[in-house]
Amino acid sequence: MKCALSAHILFDLHAGKGDTSFREVNFYMSKIIAITSGKGGTGKSSICSELGFSLAKQGLRTLIIELDFGLRCLDIMLGVKNEVKYDLGHVLRGECDITKATTKVPIAENLFIVCAPEDPFAKVEAETIKEICTEMRKYYEYIIVDTSAGTNASVFDVVEQSDLILINTTPDPVCVRDARTMSDEFYKRGNKKQRLIINKVNPDLFKADLVTDLDEIIDTVGVQLIGVIPDDDEVVIATSKGRQLPSSSLAFKAFDAISKRIQGEDLPLSFKVLLQ
Ligand SMILES: Nc1ncnc2c1ncn2[C@@H]1O[C@H](COP(=O)(O)OP(=O)(O)O)[C@@H](O)[C@H]1O
Ligand SMILES: [Mg+2]
Repeated sequence: MKCALSAHILFDLHAGKGDTSFREVNFYMSKIIAITSGKGGTGKSSICSELGFSLAKQGLRTLIIELDFGLRCLDIMLGVKNEVKYDLGHVLRGECDITKATTKVPIAENLFIVCAPEDPFAKVEAETIKEICTEMRKYYEYIIVDTSAGTNASVFDVVEQSDLILINTTPDPVCVRDARTMSDEFYKRGNKKQRLIINKVNPDLFKADLVTDLDEIIDTVGVQLIGVIPDDDEVVIATSKGRQLPSSSLAFKAFDAISKRIQGEDLPLSFKVLLQ
């Protein structure tokens, strides 16, 4: 599949929506980050949207591509439900190009989304997603790919092409084992650029000094930790109302720290720091 794309088209598209900050980015600096997990409901889509907001807030042009076919949710989470006219389904059917299927998130500078097809059975080749990402690398510093849960081959094919795989788990032992299964498969396929996010961690457990649980999770999954996100109602409120997280919330601080670590900043990983 060919993605008809030019700087000119993209400029027109976004200029029309009030984005005057268009610029090409350094292709080789651009990073594709895939968020994945073995189990559903671990928070992949929430992480995509909050990480997107965090990176965009730091002035980094960020595009989220939603691949959870038939189970679109990021339009609600990012507050663009009524703005999305075209999605990835239109692109795959050849009805528009990827720029036309890109929607600017009005409440954030620098944040854009390509929503998942509404058809759960839409067919996509990993190669097509790769072509789309390669084209979009020219215009976005970060491309975040939201995946469906599970271990089907197409998810692996798409995810393993990323510059960084963020394996996401909750402390639930079933999720942890599934995360291990996913990560083992990526290692087997030669992808060593994996980091672990532990989501929905109860802050009270930390106040009670039950930190060994986290070490056990990291050891079981066998992937280096990049961040811990508290179980925080502010995530539920922000994602259901299509708002940004309040900067005073624990979750905001957790996402801010993860977005900086992704850029290579050396911030303390201790969850306790968040609670101070
Ligand atoms: N850190 C968190 N704290 C509280 N609730 C969360 C957190 N992360 C995700 N959730 C909630 O968990 C549910 C599933 O999240 P979602 O991002 O849709 O998961 P997935 O994409 O992995 O299926 C949603 O109701 C979401 O609001
Ligand atoms: Mg999801």
